[in-house]
Amino acid sequence: TWRMDSFVEQTIGEIRERVGSGKVLLALSGGVDSSVLAALLAKAIGKQLTCVFVDHGLLRKNEGDEVESVFGPEGSFDINFVRVNAAERYYAKLAGVEEPERKRKIIGEEFIRVFEEEAKKIGTVDFLAQGTIYPDVVESGLGGESVVIKSHHNVGGLPDYVDFKEIIEPLRNLFKDEVRKVGLELGLPEYLVFRQPFPGPGLGIRIIGEVTAEKVRIVQDADYIYRTELAEAGLAKLPDQYFAALSNMRSVGVMGDERTYDYAVVLRAVETVDFMTAEASEIPFEVLQRVMSRIINEVKGVNRVMYDLTSKPPGTVELE
Ligand code: XMP
Repeated sequence: TWRMDSFVEQTIGEIRERVGSGKVLLALSGGVDSSVLAALLAKAIGKQLTCVFVDHGLLRKNEGDEVESVFGPEGSFDINFVRVNAAERYYAKLAGVEEPERKRKIIGEEFIRVFEEEAKKIGTVDFLAQGTIYPDVVESGLGGESVVIKSHHNVGGLPDYVDFKEIIEPLRNLFKDEVRKVGLELGLPEYLVFRQPFPGPGLGIRIIGEVTAEKVRIVQDADYIYRTELAEAGLAKLPDQYFAALSNMRSVGVMGDERTYDYAVVLRAVETVDFMTAEASEIPFEVLQRVMSRIINEVKGVNRVMYDLTSKPPGTVELE
């Protein structure tokens, strides 16, 4: 059996040999793949690596700070770490935009623009590192789907916009579970290594309709409560993916003696093997009730909580 410590040791040697004294640039999203890659490169080449982390203001609650605490100056890796707080820019671009595909496109394009600006400040680098893993390689080999249901934006397209000589993709032969093992081997915290999937456009596609700073705050807080309660519920197994989304629906409610007219939060949780098909998770009703009651009491602007029962197909996992 293939042991991950020997992978780490061997790959570090290969990276050192290939990179020499060159400079490497990595777009760090805080997801599993780019985080493990950052840790691996940090071990191999230290300060020759610059990680640019674009915080688009559409991350889960506290996530930007978590990424910074692991990879920033207070963390345990000796690398150059640049965090770009671009939330205001993204919100400005997204103001008034309601259509899901337009939102995805704006978020993807803005990422490239912000990253390009940072890359210009750094100047020519020798290598652009990418967190491609084996399933990505296989997927792109299959060619495009005939019907685009959602355009997936991550760091695709980046190579066209950055001045570099070669691409390095040290994780390209690994499956996801192997990437996680490598992450643990390199000392990354478990919450990061076992993070559930999170879409590139982030909360931008978990807020139906127009994205505003206020709606981001609502989704972040509701989602945080949902995740905390599920973690504490002692379930035999957590759902494969679960999150709160904000419907664009407002409805009438009553709080104390007051009539309210506020947003409805949608709780989503799915069981899936490959995310191509999925079923809604059977979360115990009392857990859902606790989540509902905390969200309504603690998150200003919400007076209704709904659970999404839809399978995929006909639904998708995300709401946009
Ligand atoms: P859907 O909503 O298409 O989602 O059923 C299937 C899985 O893909 C994730 N997802 C994305 N992941 N960039 C990503 O990296 C994206 O643009 C994106 N859109 C959806 C979704 O969270 C689910 O795990």
